[in-house]
Amino acid sequence: MTLERTFSIIKPDATKRNLTGAINKVFEDNGLRIVAQRRIQMSEDQAKKFYEVHAERPFYGELVEFMTSEPVVVQVLEAENAVAKHREVMGATNPEEAADGTVRKLYALSIGENSVHGSDSLENANLEIAQFFKDEEIVG
Ligand code: CMP
Repeated sequence: MTLERTFSIIKPDATKRNLTGAINKVFEDNGLRIVAQRRIQMSEDQAKKFYEVHAERPFYGELVEFMTSEPVVVQVLEAENAVAKHREVMGATNPEEAADGTVRKLYALSIGENSVHGSDSLENANLEIAQFFKDEEIVG
């Protein structure tokens, strides 16, 4: 088994409600190690670039507006099978479909205000990490 890294964002609905520590506890309790973390105010350009893949979706404008509405916490998480493990711990995108004990079941407000983002593949994890972190900022 090899260690993987994935990219995570604690979103504005969660930072606003002081849930950064509570969400990090769920991650850590499930074996995800936080190897880099920074609280930032995402710019419109950063949010547009990050969610470029959704540019044609009807919720794109709303998503960019939401992600820039309050600070977010960007993170790199490390574990064996980190991408899959993080997605399991986050739960389904829509909190109404999320399993008990997952971050989104516990904390998300709606499909848009769903508290956390996680990379959907190792390839995207590497691209997303590179958008926000320099190699030397990640200490595994
Ligand atoms: P995330 O994992 O950050 O990736 C894309 C985001 O788009 C997703 O989480 C949701 O927060 C958001 N999203 C997906 N579907 C909808 C929707 N129908 N309405 C609003 N936002 C959505």
